[in-house]
Amino acid sequence: MDTHQIDLVREKIENAAFITVLTGAGISAESGIPTFRGEGGLWKQFKAEELATPEAFRDTPGIVWEWYHWRRELISKKIPNRAHDVLVILETKTPGFTLITQNVDGLHALAGNQNIIELHGTLWKTRCTGCHRVVEERSFTMPLIPTCGVCKMMLRPHVVWFGEGIDSFNLEGSLKACRECEVFLVVGTSSVVQPAASFAALARSEGAFIVEVNVTPALQIRPNISLTGKAADILPQLLA
Ligand code: APR
Repeated sequence: MDTHQIDLVREKIENAAFITVLTGAGISAESGIPTFRGEGGLWKQFKAEELATPEAFRDTPGIVWEWYHWRRELISKKIPNRAHDVLVILETKTPGFTLITQNVDGLHALAGNQNIIELHGTLWKTRCTGCHRVVEERSFTMPLIPTCGVCKMMLRPHVVWFGEGIDSFNLEGSLKACRECEVFLVVGTSSVVQPAASFAALARSEGAFIVEVNVTPALQIRPNISLTGKAADILPQLLA
């Protein structure tokens, strides 16, 4: 790793009043959670794109729920890693800090970050397909296909599936954070899923300094600095 690059990023971070961070599954890899498009990303024979859709849920809700129950169980035993911890410290040091995550694992909140936009929702809430009530749900005793306590309709995970829109409040908040930041740090995402895949370009067009941290750089634009390696190894080096 080029220490000049690390020094430059550290200096940019230290002098920035507004920092926005975008994370993907790679930041949780060191916690033992498989990424979607990496090794271990398949569940049974399915890819995420095949299960995380409204059509899959309509046709085979039991299979989709079984996948979510499996992920919830797996993730409930995992804890934040050093990369998550660094972002907590960064938030305390930065006057304007926004953490946009595509992850639904809840590890950023568990680590202690406050200003988090969970762009793709969370595994730890359900939403009723009938009355749309959103409820926090951390138990592991749910039936295979849980139903709403109020209207008895089927519950679904409170996540954003392929083909569904992002909650407008979360989208607006993300776009604002991309526009106003001086440093935009992208960690552990393959940058193939929209709209998050375009956030770096937006931040750049508004003058932000773009830094990517990834074992295999994947940003669609050329960042100012690309740090190749594991998030849990690199992020701790970025703190002064
Ligand atoms: N440190 C940093 N980066 C890593 C690490 C690590 N230890 N391990 C893997 N990566 C990188 C990979 O190189 C890859 O670029 O993390 C990225 C993970 O990519 P994906 O599995 O595609 O995850 P993500 O980009 O978060 O996926 C976006 O797709 O399936 C949907 O909704 C789901 O939120 C998810 C979205």
